[in-house]
Amino acid sequence: MPVGPLTLAGIERAARAQLPPEIWDFIEGGSGAERTLAGNREMFGHYALRPRTLVDVSACATGTALLGAELGLPVGIAPMAYHRLVHPDGETATARAAGRAGALLVAGIFASRTLEAIAAEATGPLWLQLYWLRRRDALAALVERAEAAGFAALMLTVDAPRIGHRLRDLRNGFAVPPEIRAVNLDPALMAASHRAGAGSSGIAGHALEQFDPSLTWADLAWLRERTALPLVLKGILTAEDARLAAEHGADAVVVSNHGGRQLDGALPALAALPEVAAAVPPDLPVLLDGGVRTGADIAVALALGARAVLVGRPVLWGLATGGADGVADVLALLRAELEHTLALLGRPTPADLDRTVLAPWPVHR
Ligand code: FNR
Repeated sequence: MPVGPLTLAGIERAARAQLPPEIWDFIEGGSGAERTLAGNREMFGHYALRPRTLVDVSACATGTALLGAELGLPVGIAPMAYHRLVHPDGETATARAAGRAGALLVAGIFASRTLEAIAAEATGPLWLQLYWLRRRDALAALVERAEAAGFAALMLTVDAPRIGHRLRDLRNGFAVPPEIRAVNLDPALMAASHRAGAGSSGIAGHALEQFDPSLTWADLAWLRERTALPLVLKGILTAEDARLAAEHGADAVVVSNHGGRQLDGALPALAALPEVAAAVPPDLPVLLDGGVRTGADIAVALALGARAVLVGRPVLWGLATGGADGVADVLALLRAELEHTLALLGRPTPADLDRTVLAPWPVHR
């Protein structure tokens, strides 16, 4: 019997071998010199785990409650544009896998399958990510559709008033292939994504045209009035913004630098987590994304105050290599690794993880 991939890194290698280079670069790349992209991973290496012994770990559990939903593991799929770039089934396959694993799925505003088709496949919690479009009527229509389709929360991404300088995409003249579309938005709003211009990728040109860079905290009330759904803000990296998010009625925040794709040099997500967790009321869930690749990474994030993590690129690696089964493999690996970590740490559930689990990784000079 051949052994399948034993880690997410193995699935990554398989995905890289089969994807066209410009698609691989779009997924994998960050902005600028990719310092923040690298920093997201490096930060996890600064922590050592402090295992406790002679604790009954015969029944470890990975389940977690999040905004009224019960997750089988404290993991969600981060919102990512255009899943069909890597597999013809796109987001409907991702939704099937998330349901099987008990993970949250956050569908992106640039999903390449309709909200209704994604919802029809989803058997677990499903949220919708939004960018604030200049065309508020289009935004309002999307919110209405999401509610009707059964989406349980809205996640507004606030770290992208414009798109980061993603040099790989610029070098490749990357534009979204014409057959893959953000089908939930009016085609007239999306035309620029399919055209790379001089010094601009299709993605960046589109954002410039359609995203509203004048958005401020005061505008959130407009969205709040339009929906009873919980509102989650994604892209918070400071205590100041965490406090403002809570004051403006956010129901949860995501500590995120967009996977190193926006401000290069921004804090690694894990480095920002403690100050954000300390700044919000204790009952306001804090999520984290950026560089989570193992069950031990999840344990570190939870110990630093996250209720759950979101995982981005690895989901697309799984989708590329095996469709819904490939995504299910990624989520199953993370769940098994987390359960194993909890057992060997002597902390049988996610709720048992706190700062006492962590020590600085020892550096001897
Ligand atoms: C993203 N991300 C993203 N975020 C968002 O709010 N809206 C979006 O449309 C997208 N699109 C997108 C596409 C691709 C290909 C990637 C890789 C990422 C960012 C994503 O939600 C998340 O913040 C990071 O991917 C998390 O980091 P890791 O897990 O990929 O390291």
